[in-house]
Amino acid sequence: MSLPRRADLERLYAYPDPTDPWVRLCFVTTLDGSVAGGDGVSGSLGGEADAAAYRVMRDLCDVVLVGAGTARAEGYGPIAPGSVDAGLRERRGLRPVPVLALVSSTLDVPDALLRPEVIVLTCAAASEQRRAEVAARADLVVVGDETIDWPAALAALADRGLLRVLCEGGPHLAGTLATLDLVDELCLTVAPTLVGGSGSRVTRDAPDLDQSFRLGHVVPAGDVLLTRWLRERT
Ligand SMILES: NC(=O)c1ccc[n+]([C@@H]2O[C@H](COP(=O)([O-])OP(=O)(O)OC[C@H]3O[C@@H](n4cnc5c(N)ncnc54)[C@H](OP(=O)(O)O)[C@@H]3O)[C@@H](O)[C@H]2O)c1
Repeated sequence: MSLPRRADLERLYAYPDPTDPWVRLCFVTTLDGSVAGGDGVSGSLGGEADAAAYRVMRDLCDVVLVGAGTARAEGYGPIAPGSVDAGLRERRGLRPVPVLALVSSTLDVPDALLRPEVIVLTCAAASEQRRAEVAARADLVVVGDETIDWPAALAALADRGLLRVLCEGGPHLAGTLATLDLVDELCLTVAPTLVGGSGSRVTRDAPDLDQSFRLGHVVPAGDVLLTRWLRERT
């Protein structure tokens, strides 16, 4: 299989120079639109090409935003300094390692992620006791009462200098951001497999939407398609 050259991926996935938060959503789906493979998670989809694009997207972002459901299902850990290209990040003026920002309303978050450098975004509906426990171990940001106030959440990230957002899902989080029209682009890998079943689509529990995107790129890599779609707001 021919993988795109690393330099080409860096050019294709470059963020615009943001003055406001820019939300890139990245997903891999099967041909029949499922975000999970037969094993119930996404890691098995997309193969080497998706992994290469995913690494570049992490290398270029300020913050990885992820829902607690995905962090639990996919066994997320802290972002290891050795997992990103420190040289590239330095040349682009980025901090050495992207910040991880975890989204949860219950604060049922993996213990391994409760670290001072991890942001946990939540709302006031989370129990006071759990908020105190998490705040003692991580950078807890409480925005909104019953639900997370997303403009305030993105503003809190921007206050920390985190404008290039890479949202790695999952579908509930993507559904919320899409509903609020906060997704600036979708980087979607199409994996060459049919899985049937009842796997989620990219957005879940969103109301009917009618949002247009224009094609940024489509790159065939063997049987996999790497695509990028940019939101067209009128
Ligand atoms: N194919 C792909 O590229 C891809 C990418 C990501 C995930 N996935 C798959 O998607 C599945 C998980 O789906 P999911 O929909 O459960 O993922 P999710 O959106 O990451 O998780 C949902 C949970 O995250 C928290 N959350 C998400 N949005 C929130 C919001 N707006 N406000 C407050 N909390 C929010 C809540 O956590 P609390 O319950 O803690 O409040 C919620 O229960 C897994 O199978 C995973 O493998 C696939």
